[in-house]
Amino acid sequence: MTDAPARHRFYGELADWWPLISPPQEYAEEAAFAARLLNSARLPVRDVLELGSGGGHNAAHLKAHFAMTLVDLSEDMLAVSRRLNPECEHRQGDMRTVRLGRDFDAVFVHDAVDYMISEADLRRAVATAFAHCRPGGVAVFVPDETAETFAPGTDHGGTDDAGGRAVRYLEWAWDPDPSDTWTITEYAFLLRDADGSVRVVHETHRVGLFGREVWLRLLADAGFEPAAVLEETTEDRTPREFFLGHRPST
Ligand SMILES: C[S@@+](CC[C@H](N)C(=O)[O-])C[C@H]1O[C@@H](n2cnc3c(N)ncnc32)[C@H](O)[C@@H]1O
Repeated sequence: MTDAPARHRFYGELADWWPLISPPQEYAEEAAFAARLLNSARLPVRDVLELGSGGGHNAAHLKAHFAMTLVDLSEDMLAVSRRLNPECEHRQGDMRTVRLGRDFDAVFVHDAVDYMISEADLRRAVATAFAHCRPGGVAVFVPDETAETFAPGTDHGGTDDAGGRAVRYLEWAWDPDPSDTWTITEYAFLLRDADGSVRVVHETHRVGLFGREVWLRLLADAGFEPAAVLEETTEDRTPREFFLGHRPST
């Protein structure tokens, strides 16, 4: 039995603000690094499945290299992504349970994997990746943090669009109980419409946090050959740890 997933307004009725919160152009460098790792499969990589593709901001870059199939829980986020990536196939599904009935050369799971807050859920997401990965293919997972790198703290951001809308937000991460597998991120968003009116929205997200050893063990249990690769980035932040699972060729 799989628990009902958390529903977030920011991936639902407020999804249209996503491109102002985290603009697609900010994904270029990380997507290029991900493309290198996706190409580490032991077969030529053409068909790539992304689980938890959100607004399709990674896909907007990855589609230059691969034929992308994009799966997300939220129809509203899929609608945002369809506008940006009309040439990609979009499907609604939960990364813990979805089965598309076809396989891919590679599977990519970016920060949406953070919504796996128990080891059982993370195991299901890894099993979904394995079920869709051809022998010789690779799965690449990119959690925002691992237990080794997490530190409580704040961040802020937001942008303006050409139509006069703008967002500014504060993000505040903390860990109420370091002995469990999740942390909390509190978000305060100021949303300014084109007419100048401003709304404030507060949202609490529970975010999974697992150590490197857990990641590698779950990948191996699923049947992957696991590896961890430290991101190369020029961005002013801690490099992320990318987790790879190569599916054996036979
Ligand atoms: C931060 S957004 C992802 C943004 C994405 N990296 C991009 O390039 O735009 C997180 C996404 O995870 C999705 N999500 C959360 N739980 C999920 C699940 N169980 N299965 C699939 N998608 C999920 C949400 O609907 C949301 O679109």
